[in-house]
Amino acid sequence: MNGSDFSSQFEGRLARPVLAKIPDFARQERLKHVIFAQQFDRDLLDHFSATASMIREISRTRPGQDFLTGLLSHKRAMLYFTQPSTRTFLSFMAACQILGITCNEIRDPSLSSEYKGESPLDSMRMFSSYFDVIIMRTPQAKFAESCAYLMNDLDKMGKRSVPIVNAGSGADEHPTQALLDIYTLQRTFEFTAKTDTSKATRFDQLQRKYPTLSKGLDGKVYGFCGDVGRGRTVRSLTTLLALWKNVSMVFIYPDYPKLAPYADMLARLEDAGIAISHAHSLDQVAAQLDMLYMTRIQHEHDTPEDRAFFETFDKSKFTLTPEILATMRDYCPILHPFPRNEEIPFEIDSDNRAMYFRQARNGMWIRAALLAHIFDVDGKIGSYYLRNYASAPTSSATAVPPR
Ligand code: CP
Repeated sequence: MNGSDFSSQFEGRLARPVLAKIPDFARQERLKHVIFAQQFDRDLLDHFSATASMIREISRTRPGQDFLTGLLSHKRAMLYFTQPSTRTFLSFMAACQILGITCNEIRDPSLSSEYKGESPLDSMRMFSSYFDVIIMRTPQAKFAESCAYLMNDLDKMGKRSVPIVNAGSGADEHPTQALLDIYTLQRTFEFTAKTDTSKATRFDQLQRKYPTLSKGLDGKVYGFCGDVGRGRTVRSLTTLLALWKNVSMVFIYPDYPKLAPYADMLARLEDAGIAISHAHSLDQVAAQLDMLYMTRIQHEHDTPEDRAFFETFDKSKFTLTPEILATMRDYCPILHPFPRNEEIPFEIDSDNRAMYFRQARNGMWIRAALLAHIFDVDGKIGSYYLRNYASAPTSSATAVPPR
């Protein structure tokens, strides 16, 4: 075995339930590796959101930018992205730059010594010799997790070991996408507006039309539309939303097994007390949603049998048209991890509820907050913020004390 068969090398550890694995990815009550969405609890999510909002605010000024870039200017990151990416790759790179971390990348393994037969695990160990964190996206599920075990084993041997950050692993997880989705929802469900005054706020106005509306993520109906089964972003985000109270989820997908939510995800959500319902056409449920999370159909995973199904598939049932938009609640944010295909036409982009570009930008701030946490400089950011700004950060997450 040369290490390319990574799953057999770590078989016993990979086979455990996720919750049994979580302690392996922490170090002194701080995340070391970021592999699963289940590693984040409510306190940590609030902390990341508060840190992200502080970084956002601090970076508005030149002295603030200089402070941030000085924090980790002694660190180097490897961005190992052997699966295509625009947003995750660039927002991690921008997040590193905000904190002063120098970045290097491998995107095409045929240009590295993997082309000559080097195993991906040997490549990882090499990266750990040169860099201080490895941020990785690969087509193989469980590879990022295996790399984290490799680093832990190196650590136990007294060798150099660095954090692994999963930036999308096969079909199973995309934990940092879930972070930016939660951050976007937290900001959206503050229901604030620049026009708010002490006498009249956007929230008051919305409450007159929707009397049961409350601030925050509790008690909301979350809709997920499209390729629910093969979408790793849905798996990771539903895991985090289940941490809030009185949450309902509506899954809207073509009546085809591979596109339906997988049984393990549904079982986990049911165990968490989530009220779940299913639909096969967006127009039937759009009006009842507090959030709509659109996804594209991931045709790159299609088999010939799948292609035969899609020849007769009515994609209009999973497309957000202006007519459906008109039935939706005035405040219902529309999220999409992107890239999109035809499921959200361009004409929707100008609607105030279209959050997907803001959502992508939020990825940069929350990933900077995550890296600040991993490298233990989030406390310095909190202290700088409190010294230089009088009020709490502009996020639903109030200034949570440094962890
Ligand atoms: N949301 C997301 O993962 O986008 P990219 O594939 O462009 O990174």
